[in-house]
Amino acid sequence: MPIVLRRVHDSDLPVFFRQMNDPESLEMAAFTPKDPTDRDAFDAHWQTMRASSDVLRTILADGDVVGSAAVYGRPGEREVTYWVDRAYWGRGIATEALSALLSEVPERPLFARAAADNAGSLRVLAKCGFRPTARAVGFANARGGETEEIVLRLET
Ligand SMILES: CC(C)(COP(=O)(O)OP(=O)(O)OC[C@H]1O[C@@H](n2cnc3c(N)ncnc32)[C@H](O)[C@@H]1OP(=O)(O)O)[C@@H](O)C(=O)NCCC(=O)NCCS
Repeated sequence: MPIVLRRVHDSDLPVFFRQMNDPESLEMAAFTPKDPTDRDAFDAHWQTMRASSDVLRTILADGDVVGSAAVYGRPGEREVTYWVDRAYWGRGIATEALSALLSEVPERPLFARAAADNAGSLRVLAKCGFRPTARAVGFANARGGETEEIVLRLET
């Protein structure tokens, strides 16, 4: 499915909020905000990110807002993240969006983290050239417990 990345508009935020409150998506992503239903916290978080040097992009498919993708964090430790509306899963959107984001952001290395059982995300990262470098255990809010995660690195 052909996609376009563009800068985030204010009107995208309610769409992201809905997408990021889907229970199946939250369970999959695992490492999520403490209370994803807290709209004030969500807005404050996006306001901080939009004022930073993070690269935040809205994913459009056929003109619809179908998700978001970002490069965030401190120089030298920058990580990628993405989220696709569940209604659009399995159409190659995350893979295409991450590839487009990586073309836009030349700095390397870049890092990523995914729950060890997030097969979809790990596959997206592998297809875009990320390689696993470490395993860690962290508290996953969406699961209310310790969860294993994989750290990945993109060199070129
Ligand atoms: C993970 C996520 C981004 C994948 O988005 P998507 O647009 O469906 O991914 P794609 O269609 O590009 O799929 C890429 C590959 O992953 C595979 N895949 C996708 N979801 C999968 C799943 N749940 N289980 C196993 N494989 C999966 C696809 O089959 C495809 O592999 P292939 O090319 O070898 O056939 C999406 O499910 C999502 O937003 N999940 C919730 C948020 C999240 O987990 N974000 C990442 C945090 S680290």
